[in-house]
Amino acid sequence: MADARPFHWEYNPEPVAREVFRIEGGRPLSGSVAISGSKNAALKMLAAATLTGERCRFTNVPEIEDVRVMAETLRDLGVVVDHPAANTYEVASGDVEWLFVPLEAAAKMRASFMLLGPLLSRFGRVIISNPGGDRIGRRPVDLHVDAMRSLGAEIEYRNGYYFATAPGRLRGTEVRFPFVSVMGTENALLAATLADGQTVIRPAAQEPEVDDLIAFLQKMGAEVARTYPDTIEIHGRRRLRGADHSVIPDRIEAGTFVVAGAVTGGRVTLSGAPCDHLAAFVEVVGRAGVGISCGRDTIEVDGTGIDDPGFRACDIQTAPYPGLATDLQPPTSVLLTQAHGVSNVHEAVFEDRLEWLGELNRMGARAELQDDHHASITGRTPLQGAEVEIGDLRAGASLMLAALAAEGTTTIHGAHHVHRGYENIERKFLDLGARIERLAEGTDSTTS
Ligand code: UD1
Repeated sequence: MADARPFHWEYNPEPVAREVFRIEGGRPLSGSVAISGSKNAALKMLAAATLTGERCRFTNVPEIEDVRVMAETLRDLGVVVDHPAANTYEVASGDVEWLFVPLEAAAKMRASFMLLGPLLSRFGRVIISNPGGDRIGRRPVDLHVDAMRSLGAEIEYRNGYYFATAPGRLRGTEVRFPFVSVMGTENALLAATLADGQTVIRPAAQEPEVDDLIAFLQKMGAEVARTYPDTIEIHGRRRLRGADHSVIPDRIEAGTFVVAGAVTGGRVTLSGAPCDHLAAFVEVVGRAGVGISCGRDTIEVDGTGIDDPGFRACDIQTAPYPGLATDLQPPTSVLLTQAHGVSNVHEAVFEDRLEWLGELNRMGARAELQDDHHASITGRTPLQGAEVEIGDLRAGASLMLAALAAEGTTTIHGAHHVHRGYENIERKFLDLGARIERLAEGTDSTTS
């Protein structure tokens, strides 16, 4: 039976090298920026590569901390992970020695839980830690565990670990989720590719990263298809083969740079940008009065209307794809501080994802939290440099956006959160004309 005492309470994470961003704002950004590969797609593909003993090769993988953590976690299992060139990873899971994903990996990154489905399905057992990850919401994993159980797994929870076995082989079934979960869908999908018989997942997440994972699995020889927008069907195979895949661009990074161009009153061109995956966001940005136009794989942002005629307030609500991504709520909230009028923000996916607005207020914003899921933002308020602290990845990047728009200098503590998910973010902002330095916490020395 479950042990009621979460083991994490006793866990002291390794100290991270704390870093600070110092940003001198108030300068319009201009120029072009190349969008990197998607974090949320790449992490799942690295996990999916354990479904076969053959070599898999991934290109356009973002050079970010979360990918490094996933690579290290795989190496600790005995998987060979090569990094032959920037943005390229090769994974060979012939000899998996340890079917154990420790707390050290799980506490650093929630996506380590993506190893549950593939390891259980291929090897019939795994011991995996309950994940920590971002401090947004409670973020349980009950849906993942229930999905594995419905596929025939036996799972016990003891001392912060899930002990999972699949007597014989996992069996195809109908996996029914009570609501949409991105990683829940992906874990069930990976497990079902090697299960005996047919699996139907419903409602299945519709995020583009899930479809990119399906595309990779098809190259591995998996029989899987999205048969309706919210339904994925899988016919389990006995084995899968190695495959090569190029990761789709990161729509969340793209949205972040759209807001950077807008709130600094600049003109920015995004190249390799997935406009098709950003329809709900592009609609909001356009409604707010920002100039935005999409080409085949470019996005042009024109923020020069920020003073005249000015941006307009608008109400937003996050939702699973194709709705407005919850990961784009923080950047959009920064944009709304520069819009005239009252904007209502409804964060429908996670609780706690509005708390960071308190830090934004320290820079002069007028955001009012009504409850865990609702806030209002009154604009336009000039932003001023301040000393602020990053609590999680997306709020971190958004405080950088606010700092770029603010008059004066902002010191942002907790910069390491941003490196989890953004490749070379300060280099990209520097190339657009920003004044930004990354320093080790408590020193004046710049880190590279
Ligand atoms: C993924 C993304 C994250 C994004 C989120 C929503 C990755 C690595 N992360 O996270 O960037 O913000 O989708 O688009 O891809 N829930 C449960 N029980 C579970 C699982 C989830 O109650 O077992 C709840 C969550 O608390 C949340 C909701 O379901 O309220 C949706 O979360 P989910 O779609 O599962 O997010 P993740 O897959 O964890």
